Amino acid sequence: MADQPSAYLPQALAIAVEAGKLLMPYFERRVGFEYKGGVDLVTEADTASEQLIVSRLRAAWPEHDIVGEEGTRDTHGGSFRWYIDPLDGTTNFAHGYPVFCVSMGLEREGELIAGIIYDPTRDELFAAARGSGATLNGRPIHVSTTATLSESILGTGFPSFKRHKNPNIHFYHQITLTSHGIRRAGSAALDLANVAAGRYDGYWEFNLNPWDTTAGVLLVQEAGGTVTRFDGSPFKVDSKETLASNTRIHEELIHCFREIFAGRNLKELPSLIAYRDKQ
Ligand code: IPD
Ligand code: CA
Ligand code: CA
Repeated sequence: MADQPSAYLPQALAIAVEAGKLLMPYFERRVGFEYKGGVDLVTEADTASEQLIVSRLRAAWPEHDIVGEEGTRDTHGGSFRWYIDPLDGTTNFAHGYPVFCVSMGLEREGELIAGIIYDPTRDELFAAARGSGATLNGRPIHVSTTATLSESILGTGFPSFKRHKNPNIHFYHQITLTSHGIRRAGSAALDLANVAAGRYDGYWEFNLNPWDTTAGVLLVQEAGGTVTRFDGSPFKVDSKETLASNTRIHEELIHCFREIFAGRNLKELPSLIAYRDKQ
């Protein structure tokens, strides 16, 4: 029955895999890129993947709205809306670094009900439907059980647009010194999938868009995790702050963000002059 969130998965999974497989020949031949503005890159592969996904979604569910990163704004006020990132991790892709994916999130009446992320380099297919849990290649996945920030590994990302105005380096620095470390892999959707799969204990980023977050946020929630804004308020599709965790470390992360924003108890950066003079 098409009113169960899980009813949308079989067709949507097939579309994500088809798009992911379409990306690989472009990746292998190191397709060229253009600038969309700043250091925001786009390739022929982004466009081809979006065209494929949009044509398949239109054929399957002509009444659904579609918003795609590469310009699709097929919106007519319907109850359903797909958010499509046809290639999340374009900078990695363009440089031959194999960390990227296809991400598709489905909203019904403003509520996320399905999320699909496909990583064609590892053939990993993540799926979630509201109320049915999250899976990786068909097997259930769960967030980690790590209980403290000091024992956690986390992910983050840095925006390509107006990067000189972004304060994330302060959070990167402070949280690096209070955890097992931070990874900055370059695909927000895969970062969220990694929280859902228990590979990361937490993840945060400023200024993401709904095509980056929707699928991954539902994956995290359905895998037992929590996603909020940095102050702990509810995450919404258009939120400009994304803080995801295994739930157990969430309060500690919110506290940590509050302290950093307030400039309290900050660890100092080592002095470059002191380092240089010791050499
Ligand atoms: C980017 C990636 C990256 C994140 C950027 C996003 P794109 O998406 O998710 O990890 O740090 O903020 O814009 O441009 O490769 O689809
Ligand atoms: Ca993206
Ligand atoms: Ca993209």
